[in-house]
Amino acid sequence: MSGEDTMRPPVSLRRVHEALLGAAACLEPLLPLANSCMVSFITEDQWRRLVPGPLAAALLQLPAEQLLRLPAAAPDQLPAGPLRQLAEQLGRHRLSGCGVLSPPPPVSAAALPLMDQFFSDKKLHEVDRMAATVAHLAATGGVGQVVDLGSGKGYLSSMLALQHGLDVLAVEANEVHSHGAQKVNANIKKSWDAIVSRSAALQIGQQPERRSRKWKRQQRSQDRSRHRPAPGRLTPVDQLVTSGTHLSELVALHGDGYRPVAVVGLHTCGDLAVNSIRMFNEMPQASLLVNVGCCYHLQRERFEGQFWADLDLQEVSFPLSRPLLERRFALGQQARGLAAQASERIASYQRAPSPFLYYRAVLQAPSPFLYYRAVLQVFLQDRLGTVPTDIMVGRLARKARDYLDYMHMALSKYPLDHRAVSDAELLAYHDRLLEHRPRLEAFSVLRSALAPLVEAVLLLDRLAFLMEQDSIEDGSPRATI
Ligand SMILES: C[S@@+](CC[C@H](N)C(=O)[O-])C[C@H]1O[C@@H](n2cnc3c(N)ncnc32)[C@H](O)[C@@H]1O
Repeated sequence: MSGEDTMRPPVSLRRVHEALLGAAACLEPLLPLANSCMVSFITEDQWRRLVPGPLAAALLQLPAEQLLRLPAAAPDQLPAGPLRQLAEQLGRHRLSGCGVLSPPPPVSAAALPLMDQFFSDKKLHEVDRMAATVAHLAATGGVGQVVDLGSGKGYLSSMLALQHGLDVLAVEANEVHSHGAQKVNANIKKSWDAIVSRSAALQIGQQPERRSRKWKRQQRSQDRSRHRPAPGRLTPVDQLVTSGTHLSELVALHGDGYRPVAVVGLHTCGDLAVNSIRMFNEMPQASLLVNVGCCYHLQRERFEGQFWADLDLQEVSFPLSRPLLERRFALGQQARGLAAQASERIASYQRAPSPFLYYRAVLQAPSPFLYYRAVLQVFLQDRLGTVPTDIMVGRLARKARDYLDYMHMALSKYPLDHRAVSDAELLAYHDRLLEHRPRLEAFSVLRSALAPLVEAVLLLDRLAFLMEQDSIEDGSPRATI
């Protein structure tokens, strides 16, 4: 978010609270569905218990292609009735529809095609856009120093330093990653001039020149006349960030404690995203926050059973905002896991060449293995009475050739004589339960459709918390978040 002109948050705290409470109220009755574990779809009779009758009937009537596209469907693409109503409700409360987002800053990512020797296409796309956004906002706010929290192998840090001339503290808990980051940065740095000039040639449709001695001489003389930002300094910091980490100490130790700081993080797992916000709040020189979270299932919830109930408020990462704390609002781990699948990503796959690819890419398809796992649960319950919860079937879908292969591999993990189980018996289970399969597939798509709503609750809660801080509320320059 950027308030370039007014230096104020783009919307009022009141508006953010309203959007948050609207999303939470919409989600609350759907939480049992979002928190369901589809392994127990048949054994726990989830279809009947969790999907209201009229919605269930409408789902089963949808043609397969429309069903697969349900999570990203606009309401008018759906038949009138309960499905359209649900899509309207979800659309109103997801981030893109709830009216609190400001337009993204006008950046054009530089997309250096030759960086693909260091990054995958996906990583290059993310890093390029994020770096361009951070650089734009930093330039707007006069910030030259960045703390990249959870910097991993340092792709973002390297781009910020090399391409945008920012000084970066790359903070990473995993030493293997941070040592890898130093190597990545050294390699990119070595080839940097060639990457920039050869990428520029490719972008205008020319074949890049060979790197001869003459070419290098030319580059050196051109460099003197070119106005490219001098590379910034990249300082790796091996450190685990916790709720007790103080940004001001970290910056004073490894960077320049007197200059303004941008706090950034790309794919900050679980609590790290929330700790980034807390660290930003506590340091007056931190004037910009750019954060992309992930792995919401790793967050610690205050009101999710008794587990985290005794922890200090500083150590939990949901809820953070006043209205959700007052309501003792809980999401649940399965629902938070769902949020990571989410969002506008689903809509962006709308144009995928086939619904199958679309579903595989975005929703991890209701592959036949979803059904096989649910059948396995019925078999285990019949045989063992209670299915042990400490045994993991794991990702057999990649290894098993077919249903029988899957069942034999899975059964070998449980305390029963799996060699004595005949193929005929297993096939009888498969066929007897087949009526559940289309319901299970519809159920999994419906559940995925809730992902953007769960993500909206998580992110609006963070935004509200941030805007509830005095230093943001008072319209100070730190309000450019
Ligand atoms: C999903 S990766 C993202 C890496 C990098 N930002 C990127 O986008 O390529 C998250 C990184 O954050 C690091 N990390 C997670 N929690 C952390 C913490 N509390 N303190 C420091 N690093 C952490 C992990 O070790 C991992 O390298």
